[in-house]
Amino acid sequence: MKEKYISIAIDGPAAAGKSTIAKGVADILGFTYVDTGAMYRAYTYYVLQRQVNPQDEVAVSRLKDEVNIDLNADGTILLNGEDVTKAIRLSDINQNVSYIASYKEVRLHLVAEQQKLAENKSVVMDGRDIGTYVLPNADVKIFLVADVKTRAIRRHEENLQKGITSKLEQIEKELKRRDEIDSGRAFAPLKKADDAVYLDSSSLNIEQVIAGVLEIINEKIGLEV
Ligand code: DC
Repeated sequence: MKEKYISIAIDGPAAAGKSTIAKGVADILGFTYVDTGAMYRAYTYYVLQRQVNPQDEVAVSRLKDEVNIDLNADGTILLNGEDVTKAIRLSDINQNVSYIASYKEVRLHLVAEQQKLAENKSVVMDGRDIGTYVLPNADVKIFLVADVKTRAIRRHEENLQKGITSKLEQIEKELKRRDEIDSGRAFAPLKKADDAVYLDSSSLNIEQVIAGVLEIINEKIGLEV
């Protein structure tokens, strides 16, 4: 008999805390965490490395078979064997990733990989279109939001902690721009799935958001921890 694997989708705008929450929930449940944003970021890294214009959809899409991304269990991200974990969080990637993520051929390629990752294990997957497009039959769907000021401050502090140079105003501007492109793109835009539960983390700390997510999971599928 085929084992039933569980999938939990967490979508929302940039820097709403999705990856911290998704990773925390995955660790508690013993599921695999899949950071789909890291895949679009790694693709963007490759585009810049190859000196292809990020706004040239045809040229960017043509690279898809040269891009091999591994999401390791220890959180490191490999692009064609190179450790790009830190590099994909830098400003040049932030500024260009929304273009790359708006290209249909790039998305179809990465979405197929994401669906494969959820085929034979239980996952917590975060992104923009997981509940609407990648895993429309996910067992639990959460749409995690926070106001843009809060998100900018969180990302700024995270950068400083990681030793990445960071300017708060620039981050807020980048977030707004990225939200606009992610929500406005034609193919699989950032959007709450009809059956997703809305969770606003603006005034909550990490532990409170994780507790809220676990409560939603328990209500939906009776998975008590
Ligand atoms: O979550 P993040 O900031 O690492 O995502 C990076 C970019 O990738 C973001 O601008 C939107 C895009 N993205 C997407 O379009 N679909 C996903 N499933 C995940 C990320």
